This record gives sequence, C-alpha cells and structure tokens, in this order.
Amino acid sequence: MTDLPVQWLEPLPLPGRQALPNRIPPGPMEGITEGSFCRALALRRLVRCWITPFIRLTTGVPRRSRLESRLAPYRETGLPVVVQIMGHDIGLLAAAARRLTELGIIGIDLNCACPTKTVIGNGAGGALLRRPEWIREALLALRTACPGVGLSVKLRTGFSSPSALPDLMAAMREGQPDFAILHYRTVEELYRRIPDGWSRLAQAKELAGSVPLLASGDIYTAEDALRLWRECRVDGVAPARGLLRNPRLLCDIEAMCQGQTPLPYSRADSLPLLADIASDPGQDDAASPGFVLDFAARSLGSDDPLFLRLSACRTLGEIRSLLGTACTNPQTE
Ligand SMILES: Cc1cc2nc3c(=O)[nH]c(=O)nc-3n(C[C@H](O)[C@H](O)[C@H](O)COP(=O)(O)O)c2cc1C
Repeated sequence: MTDLPVQWLEPLPLPGRQALPNRIPPGPMEGITEGSFCRALALRRLVRCWITPFIRLTTGVPRRSRLESRLAPYRETGLPVVVQIMGHDIGLLAAAARRLTELGIIGIDLNCACPTKTVIGNGAGGALLRRPEWIREALLALRTACPGVGLSVKLRTGFSSPSALPDLMAAMREGQPDFAILHYRTVEELYRRIPDGWSRLAQAKELAGSVPLLASGDIYTAEDALRLWRECRVDGVAPARGLLRNPRLLCDIEAMCQGQTPLPYSRADSLPLLADIASDPGQDDAASPGFVLDFAARSLGSDDPLFLRLSACRTLGEIRSLLGTACTNPQTE
C-alpha cells in the first residue's frame, strides 16, 4: 500500500449530530495555536477544526465571559472547536465542561499529558497517568455532565515507563471517549528522541479497542504520517510542531489520503503565513514583534538569512515591511 487511508478523511462522529471533520486535526500547542496563528491558518484554509490548548482549572469554574473571550479566536474562524481542559478535581472539570458546552463547541478534550513541572506538581496533566482509575472516572463524569458534545482524551504512553500502557488503555477504553490522542513519549521523556515510539503506538492501537486512536509525535511530513500508518495502523494523526515548519502539513496529509503526491514544501511557502501573522490587526506597528519572531525562528530556522534580518527589527512595523518585500520577491530573500 502506497497511500494513506482514505478513512482518515471521513468525519469522526460525535454526539449531538456533530463530528470532527476528519481524523487529521491540528495538535494543540499552548502559546502557538492561538490568536494570530489560528486566524492565519484558517484564512488560508489550512485547518478544518481546532483542539484548543488546555484551559487550566484549579480553583473555580471560570466566568462565562472569560471562557467566551478565551474561545473567541477559535470561534471567529467559523471552524468546529474542541476545547481542552486540564485539572485534577473531577467535580470542577465537569462543572467547567458543562459551562463550555453552552458556547457552541463540538467537544471537550481532557488533558492527561502535559509534562510541565508546575502542572505535574499540582497533580494535573501528565501526573494523572499515574492514576489510570482517575482517568476512567473523569471521562465517565464528563460524559454524564456533557452528554451532548464529543469527549476525547489526550494521553502520553506513561509517566515514567511505557509499561503503563496496558492499564492506561484499559482505563481509557472503559471511560468510553469518542476518540483519544496519544503522544508516544512518556512524561519523563519530555520531547527527547525515543527509538521505540511507533511500536508503542502499534501496541496502543491494539489496546484501544473500538475507540479511534489518533497518533501524536514527530509527524513533520506526509511521508512521516505514511510510515507511521504502515507500522501502527492508527486511526488518524494530530501533528503539532510540524505545522510550524510546514503550515500546509495537514493538507499534505489529506492529499496523500486521496492518492495525490503533496507538492514539495519550500521555505517560501512559509512567508505569506508569516506575513499574515505579522499583519494581524490585533497589534499596532509599534508593538514588540515577540511572537512573530518566535514563529519565524521555528518556521524558517534560526540560521536563515531572512530570520536574522527579521530578528534585527525592533518593532512589528519594521517586520511587516520586511516581510512585505520578502513575499513579493521570495527568491531574493
Ligand atoms: C509549545 C507546545 C505547546 C503544547 N501545548 C499543548 C497543549 O496545550 N495541550 C496538549 O494536549 N498538548 C500540547 N502540546 C503537545 C503537542 O500537542 C504534541 O502532542 C507534541 O508536541 C508531540 O507532537 P509533535 O511532535 O507533532 O509536536 C504542546 C506542544 C508544544 C511544542
């Protein structure tokens, strides 16, 4: 078989006659899949839905107005939105999820994967991988609280060791989410290279039963997705950092599912998106170019000549004008 499965293009049904538009959603990235980046991707039709970065729930249910403003950048794109929540208090998670369902979302995603120290210290995110029974209970409680929307869970393969996988997958199955996303590293592995990631995904796919399993981890090209599919037979993928290098990645994977060969990606393809992000109306010319530079470093590479010129700019206005020229003459930049 040379192509990705056409089934990855099929909608993934959720309660309330909703659906994830296909099985290739963008992976959530806190601080990145937000605001201007989302608007730019949506404007160029490079995504079909959102899974938001986590909303952290620690003390109380956020006011409706706060949740509304948090979701506004996603809802404004007109694309279906799955909201990710994170916490350790099941009652609080369920109450917040209930309020979120009033805001026109298609699903709730439970984060049991975040590896950051503060989150782990609070017993949330990836810390919950040490408590498979908690994951099962939380999923069942969220389903009861929000029967009319989709329910999914984001997992890693364990806290310290992937030997946790059978117990985690059993808990996930019993919690009956509509789908699960599995990042193939453990929490302690953070973002390190691991040699056996795909065999973990293959094992997880076997253990997931009838719950669709979307894979996450180091999918930078459609060919990566194809190799992963051949080895693991997962039900879809949720690429994250690959979108920064190639914002067209999800479309490339879709094209391969249709038997087409994606066009080669060139650095010049990043420039219009970068220009869109820089010219996002939320900020005036005098603003600091922090996020744009961060994105430029990731998409062009920090040793790219254009990036070096961009990083010498002091304001967004200077960046905008430099990118305007670069987009007109991509070869010379
Ligand atoms: C900057 C950054 C922020 C992230 N934020 C989230 C998040 O809010 N929720 C989540 O489930 N995963 C988050 N992730 C994890 C990604 O969704 C993904 O699982 C991980 O990066 C591995 O996939 P990749 O190699 O395709 O990036 C984040 C990753 C990065 C790099």
